[in-house]
Amino acid sequence: MKLPFLSSEQLVVGVDIGSHAVKVCQLKRTDKAYSVVTIGSAILPDGAVDDGTLNEPEVVGEVISELFKHLKIKSKKVGFSISGYSVIVKKVNLAVMDEEKLEEHILSEAEQYIPFDIEDVYLDFQDLKTNTEENERTDVMLVAAKKEIVDNYLKMLSAIGLQATIVDVDGFALENTYEHNVPKSENVALVDIGASKMNINIISGGMSVVARDIVVGSRQLTEQIQSQFDLEFEEAEALKLGHADAGDRQAEIEEIFSTVCTQWVLEIKKAIDLYHSNFPDAPLAKLVLSGGGSKVAGLTDFLGQETKLHVELFNPFQNMQSSDKKVDRNYLDSVGPEMAIASGIAIRPSAI
Ligand SMILES: Nc1ncnc2c1ncn2[C@@H]1O[C@H](COP(=O)(O)OP(=O)(O)OP(=O)(O)O)[C@@H](O)[C@H]1O
Ligand SMILES: [Mg+2]
Repeated sequence: MKLPFLSSEQLVVGVDIGSHAVKVCQLKRTDKAYSVVTIGSAILPDGAVDDGTLNEPEVVGEVISELFKHLKIKSKKVGFSISGYSVIVKKVNLAVMDEEKLEEHILSEAEQYIPFDIEDVYLDFQDLKTNTEENERTDVMLVAAKKEIVDNYLKMLSAIGLQATIVDVDGFALENTYEHNVPKSENVALVDIGASKMNINIISGGMSVVARDIVVGSRQLTEQIQSQFDLEFEEAEALKLGHADAGDRQAEIEEIFSTVCTQWVLEIKKAIDLYHSNFPDAPLAKLVLSGGGSKVAGLTDFLGQETKLHVELFNPFQNMQSSDKKVDRNYLDSVGPEMAIASGIAIRPSAI
């Protein structure tokens, strides 16, 4: 039996499977606001997930299963998101058609838009309804995800008793959580810096107009510290996070930070320049940073100087309620940036 008012508002548990850590976020919807039920994260063993691919599904499944147990999450309905080479997001401009015709058209023409064999992908699309009286064509967002990659996630989750009803894309999740938390949408650059990738998503006029994944991230810092001083990964990670005393290595570590962050900033500037050349009359209001890499000390200031934009750290829970008894507010605020994508998956109603 399905109760009518449960289904529409029932949200999935957001599971963001990164290359460094799994982040889990469960939200609840009360009236018009969201409130945080549970959040948590667990570090993954090195190499278990790489470039959006599950190299060791059993290991990842075990970590997620333990995390759900630890957080006492009963719900089995989850959403996860994909990124990287296994997913293509593309906007195409088409004549206005009804839903059925549009589907027919996309299925027959898909190979023209997507560089994958159509047999190998799951396809989805959304009419953005950008047509106006003067312009009768509309933009349609196409998403193609490699079946093999998605099926591996589904298999891993079902093996631990979870049912994935939503497959999101990192960039969409980021956009969704940002838009749900910021009432008035300005033109912004959303930048999520994880361990191995940076996702840039520029939102202008309420739409994503520049979206890209770049293979840089905070892991570069760890790896360079590791090779410079011939250390174990964990030792280098502790130095990076300031958990171990750098001693006379301080200056060299700072040099590594400076070189790597300069590279990140160059990539961000490239995307912003591309945006400005395409939309010269719609300046960006700010740059919003998320992901673990956004916590690098001094990065926001450095980015601000280089881009001349106001830069802020994103906290998806800023406007959400939470029960102080269950979720510590300071913890929520401190992990907010890493939880951006998980929260973006978690605000989506369950499809089934
Ligand atoms: N204060 C900090 N300074 C530098 N790096 C940090 C800091 N805090 C966390 N990190 C780094 O952030 C990374 C984890 O961030 P996040 O959870 O966003 O990555 P991920 O989602 O697992 O990776 P990806 O999305 O790239 O696959 C790790 O590399 C971690 O060392
Ligand atoms: Mg990530």
